[in-house]
Parts: sequence; structure tokens; C-alpha cells
Amino acid sequence: MLERLMPHYTKQDFPTHNVRRFLEPGPIVLVSSAYRDETNIMTMGWYMMMEFEPALIGCCISAANHSFELVRKSRQCVINLPTVDLAAEAVKIGNSSGRDIDKFSEFGLTPKPGGRVRAPLIAECYANFECIVRDSSWVSKYNVFVFEVVKAHVATSPKYPKTIHYRGDGEFMISGENTRRYRKLFRPDMLG
Ligand SMILES: Cc1cc2nc3c(=O)[nH]c(=O)nc-3n(C[C@H](O)[C@H](O)[C@H](O)COP(=O)(O)O)c2cc1C
Repeated sequence: MLERLMPHYTKQDFPTHNVRRFLEPGPIVLVSSAYRDETNIMTMGWYMMMEFEPALIGCCISAANHSFELVRKSRQCVINLPTVDLAAEAVKIGNSSGRDIDKFSEFGLTPKPGGRVRAPLIAECYANFECIVRDSSWVSKYNVFVFEVVKAHVATSPKYPKTIHYRGDGEFMISGENTRRYRKLFRPDMLG
């Protein structure tokens, strides 16, 4: 048998509140919302895919955020996928509140009407996923809204956008290398 060098790590106790630094890094997204004559944007890193079809996404939106109220009342949002070109805007959007400013004009972003929801798409983002709340039973306990993506708009190129992934403590990972090297190890029926 071929000898293969497997990693061997020395480990130490680690504070559980920082476990997120290893598990968080899905791409950060910008959640746009609208209620009555108001629109808003927030930055979000805490979300998870929950189902293929319908496409369900669980999103943790703090009740302290202005967006929380707009989403709760309208039961809609758009999940917008920014690339590294918008990294500074994503941080500034996450460090300000729509209670105080209009984030679209403040950060030079263009609201575009969607097809299925009233919340605006952010034109400068690589992709826009129009969402409707499908389950709000986790909102009171975890501030988690379960959304269904009812319409998706995705840029035709590049194939792999340079997305930004938050690692905590002000540090980002920028998506990099892609490989199909392990594809042959998947059972065809297990290729998601
Ligand atoms: C990188 C990053 C990730 C964030 N992730 C979340 C998140 O998952 N959930 C959340 O409620 N707030 C998150 N925030 C904080 C909100 O974006 C922030 O509170 C925002 O200012 C809320 O705006 P609003 O009051 O206009 O809704 C994040 C901020 C940053 C910078």
C-alpha cells in the first residue's frame, strides 16, 4: 500500500464562541428589503442552505437590526451576492443602520426592481435571489427566517465569482482555487 502523509495536528482547548471562525465562511451576502416606502440593506454571514427544491435558506437576522422589522413585516427579501469589488461597501453596510441612512444612496448602489418581490435587487451584485418567508417559527427563538428562493438572477460570467467569506475579527477569505480532482470519487447519484 502506498504510504501517504496524512496531516497530524497538535491541538489545544479553543473557546467555543470562536468556533464560528472555522465554520462561518460561506460567502457573505447583502440582504435587501422593503416595507411601505422604505428600503434597506444589511450584510449577512450567518445563513444555511436547507433544501434543494424548493430552495430553502435559513437566515439569522438579529432582531436589533432595522432589516429585521422590514423583513418581518414584508415577509420578503433579496439575497444579493457581492464580489470582492464590493468588500468595502459590504463592511460599511454592516457597520451602519438603515434607521440612520439610506444605504443605497450612501454607498452608491443601484436598486433594481425584481420580478417576484418588492424588495429591490442590488444591480452591482453578481447574483440576486428573490426570497419569500416560508417559515417564521424559528424567528422568536433564534431570529432565523426560512426563505424560499422564488426567482434567481445570476451573471453569465465569470463562472466563478470572487466571493468574500468572513472569518471573524475583521478578516476575510476571498474565494480562490477550484478543483474537479475529487469528482470521480463521487457516486453519480450523489453528485449534488
Ligand atoms: C461581515 C459581516 C457579517 C454580518 N453577518 C450578520 C448576520 O449574519 N446576521 C445579522 O443579523 N447581522 C450580521 N451583520 C451585522 C449587520 O449587517 C449590521 O447589524 C447591519 O448594520 C444591520 O443594518 P440595519 O440596521 O440597517 O438592518 C454582519 C456584518 C458584517 C460586517
